[in-house]
Amino acid sequence: MIEIARLRDPSGAYRVDSCTSLATIEDSVFDRVVSNYVLMDLPDLEGAAEAFHRVLVPGGVAVVVFSHPCFPQGSARVEEAQGGERTVTYRWSFPYFERRRQVDPPWGHFRADFIWFHRPLSDYWKAFIRAGFRVTDFEEPRAGGDRAFPAADEKHATNSRTRPYSVAFKLEKPSDAR
Ligand SMILES: C[S@@+](CC[C@H](N)C(=O)[O-])C[C@H]1O[C@@H](n2cnc3c(N)ncnc32)[C@H](O)[C@@H]1O
Repeated sequence: MIEIARLRDPSGAYRVDSCTSLATIEDSVFDRVVSNYVLMDLPDLEGAAEAFHRVLVPGGVAVVVFSHPCFPQGSARVEEAQGGERTVTYRWSFPYFERRRQVDPPWGHFRADFIWFHRPLSDYWKAFIRAGFRVTDFEEPRAGGDRAFPAADEKHATNSRTRPYSVAFKLEKPSDAR
């Protein structure tokens, strides 16, 4: 991935590091941190929240997007009635409040299991606050209105208009933070 990134933009600065520590990055150097679909894959959410806060300048902003923990898409069942009405059912095989390491079998072109970590939505919120962030926006992104989505087909387009796949937090490091 790093090789591909360098080929596409040789002027970029690339590092191999874990986002739960960001050990190669000094304190208070970035204006923005963006994390797309990563936090649910980390056993150490608190470490990542602290590292994002640490590397931001005071007044800096982190935008983090991750799988919606309330609506596990892997266990969603969609039924279509004759009139075209769709019912989506989410099945839970364990209590929502239980924190769990999950292993899902590979799908599509993937060859290895997917390992991820279920935790209730409130755990994320609390981890961000404990790290020193202020939550300045919260969104459940969806397609529609002024939000275009390059859906592969009508089924995916309908899904992205009607089902919450992810959550997005905008987090601010207060300007008087160190
Ligand atoms: C679901 S993928 C998302 C990839 C990409 N951000 C995107 O939007 O397509 C999750 C990514 O998180 C990476 N990842 C998992 N643990 C990590 C860690 N501790 N530090 C940095 N990246 C990690 C994985 O290697 C994987 O590439």
